[in-house]
Amino acid sequence: MRIGTASSSLWLRCFYIFPCQAALATSMVRRSLTIPTRPSAFRSDHGKCWCSASPSVVVVADDKSYGDKQVISMTPALYKYILSNVREPLILRQLREETASMRGSQMQVSPDQAQLLAMLVQILGAKRCIEVGVYTGYSSLAIALVLPESGYLVACERDAKSLDMAKRYYELAGVAYKVDAIHGLASDTLKSLIQNGESCSFDFAFVDAEKKMNQEYFELLLELVRIGGVIVIDNVLWHGKVADPMVNDTKTISIRNFNQRLMEDDRVSISMVPIGDGMTICRKR
Ligand SMILES: C[S@@+](CC[C@H](N)C(=O)[O-])C[C@H]1O[C@@H](n2cnc3c(N)ncnc32)[C@H](O)[C@@H]1O
Repeated sequence: MRIGTASSSLWLRCFYIFPCQAALATSMVRRSLTIPTRPSAFRSDHGKCWCSASPSVVVVADDKSYGDKQVISMTPALYKYILSNVREPLILRQLREETASMRGSQMQVSPDQAQLLAMLVQILGAKRCIEVGVYTGYSSLAIALVLPESGYLVACERDAKSLDMAKRYYELAGVAYKVDAIHGLASDTLKSLIQNGESCSFDFAFVDAEKKMNQEYFELLLELVRIGGVIVIDNVLWHGKVADPMVNDTKTISIRNFNQRLMEDDRVSISMVPIGDGMTICRKR
């Protein structure tokens, strides 16, 4: 991979990148570290160069069969712009802000991710949903808010304290009657739904819990969603580590293996989306 800008003809041999891009970018640029620029982003003057605050960085695949297709890469300025274009309901903002100072706040999905989840639920016309991994409730509340009056969300969480906060927000938002917040291990909850005869009765599921359990959650959810139903899995890019052959810790390996199995799984159609930490959308065939 190389990183560049759309309008560049001048290629500078310097590596300028924002800190939050570094994790993703380092894996992309290992083979070819060439950072191009354009006059508005970089200026060269008597051998010196300096950069403006907002270079628009793109990634180009090494493989020529992709025809030099350029894909935009995230910068802080661009992400700020994306966030400024999210229609975040006030109650979600309040929940996000209350969670921000709590331990584990980085675990919650970003507002743009939550908006995409809500959009998928609406496009599907989903009535029956499942969430695996609730934390303080940001993504589950985003889903519950767009469910119809007759909608139903099973929200699975093993941490009672987090779940209490989520329940408080379901109440505040006036959607508690749609949510069945279940305290316990998610796989036990999913198995009991199957035992209760609820197979093929759910429209939508979101998985955001223990990463090493993804394959097990996926198998149980595939049983629980109807044909045409959707399962979304979070953190499939794992801060870019999945694409870095130098990173081989157990979590990264398990996510990499899970992604590989999904790629080969013809029971679902898939789309890996680089939003947040990466989400794969699976549609049951
Ligand atoms: C990444 S957070 C979920 C964030 C949430 N989706 C949001 O957007 O706010 C993962 C949550 O999954 C929960 N969790 C982890 N393993 C679990 C399990 N086996 N069963 C149920 N919940 C689990 C954790 O306690 C944690 O609250």
